[in-house]
Amino acid sequence: MRTTTAIGYENNLPISDPNSLGTREIEVPPLGPHDLLVEVEAVSVNPVDTKQRKGAPSGGFRVLGFDAAGTVREVGSAVTLFAPGDEVFYAGTIDRPGTNQRFHVVDERITGHKPTSLSFTDAASIPLTAITAWESLFDRLLLNEESRGTLLVVGATGGVGSVMLQLAEALLPGVTVIATASNSERATWARDLGAEHTVNHHEDLPAQVLGIAPRGVDWLFTAHSKGQIDTYAEIVRSFGHIVAIDDGPRDIAPLKAKSIAWHWELMFTRPVQQTPDMIEQHHLLDTVARLVDEGRMRATTTNSLTPISAETLREAHALIEGGRTVGKIVLHGWE
Ligand SMILES: NC(=O)c1ccc[n+]([C@@H]2O[C@H](COP(=O)([O-])OP(=O)(O)OC[C@H]3O[C@@H](n4cnc5c(N)ncnc54)[C@H](OP(=O)(O)O)[C@@H]3O)[C@@H](O)[C@H]2O)c1
Repeated sequence: MRTTTAIGYENNLPISDPNSLGTREIEVPPLGPHDLLVEVEAVSVNPVDTKQRKGAPSGGFRVLGFDAAGTVREVGSAVTLFAPGDEVFYAGTIDRPGTNQRFHVVDERITGHKPTSLSFTDAASIPLTAITAWESLFDRLLLNEESRGTLLVVGATGGVGSVMLQLAEALLPGVTVIATASNSERATWARDLGAEHTVNHHEDLPAQVLGIAPRGVDWLFTAHSKGQIDTYAEIVRSFGHIVAIDDGPRDIAPLKAKSIAWHWELMFTRPVQQTPDMIEQHHLLDTVARLVDEGRMRATTTNSLTPISAETLREAHALIEGGRTVGKIVLHGWE
């Protein structure tokens, strides 16, 4: 039996509790046919980590962590996309043990080749947010290089928004992007990543957005939709589209008068449901890596902690729970 150092939780404790995350030696599961064994060099932390730690049953001891960058050490019997020694980045899936462990098992079909121009640390800032942003823009809203119109990105300075602005800038030349940003520093971050306009979500959003797009925006991406449905009904044009990645409002009836469509995006759908097209996550991560290596996208790391330990993960979880981080928090190296 092979073992690995892992960081996880037993009970759903507040992050201020020193026992909210702890370290253990756990078994490395045998590789399935499409699995890779990856030596993890860096991980990043997402809101899903904190939500799961606070509310999901641990089954005794559960390892969190979704984003990772590392090196392939072994491959399963049916693997064709990678070989030992390859450097990879990926976001894993919610129904398998997470990446907060030194040796981690992941399916090749949801794994990408790491951008060669990035360190492991910067590469780990990207995958989960890139998959979410990509699937929102191209699979849910069906945008492409011919698309013409205005996109409002709500949550633009967060992890997902910071990648979405870059994807829109790189691949959607006919789309004008409006980004939410709560102060001038954050507005500069959003503009540097490609937003043409910024609006402050703590002020009158309809007045600001309709001042830029008088007929309403064509598309709205939101990471923060709670209590916002009447506002969205006002600022999205008739027959427009909304894609939401948070837990969303319970009632979308106010959208009916303008026949506004509501889409859900969950980046775990493909791996959890084992959809026939789950390999698209491999392809999109490879495309993102190419865009990074061509200098058309960049890492979104704003805070880098070391080593990967229960202590640094507690620090990162606390920052994420504050709900105000810009870009991504990444952890790298082992004790
Ligand atoms: N469905 C999926 O597949 C999926 C994938 C990734 C994330 N998510 C979810 O999406 C949400 C965002 O994820 P993330 O990684 O981008 O989060 P994040 O990086 O933690 O987001 C923090 C950012 O959100 C901004 N923000 C907070 N409240 C806001 C509001 N009401 N309006 C506009 N901006 C606001 C903050 O800016 P200010 O401080 O300036 O307000 C901050 O820059 C989380 O709930 C996460 O669980 C879902």
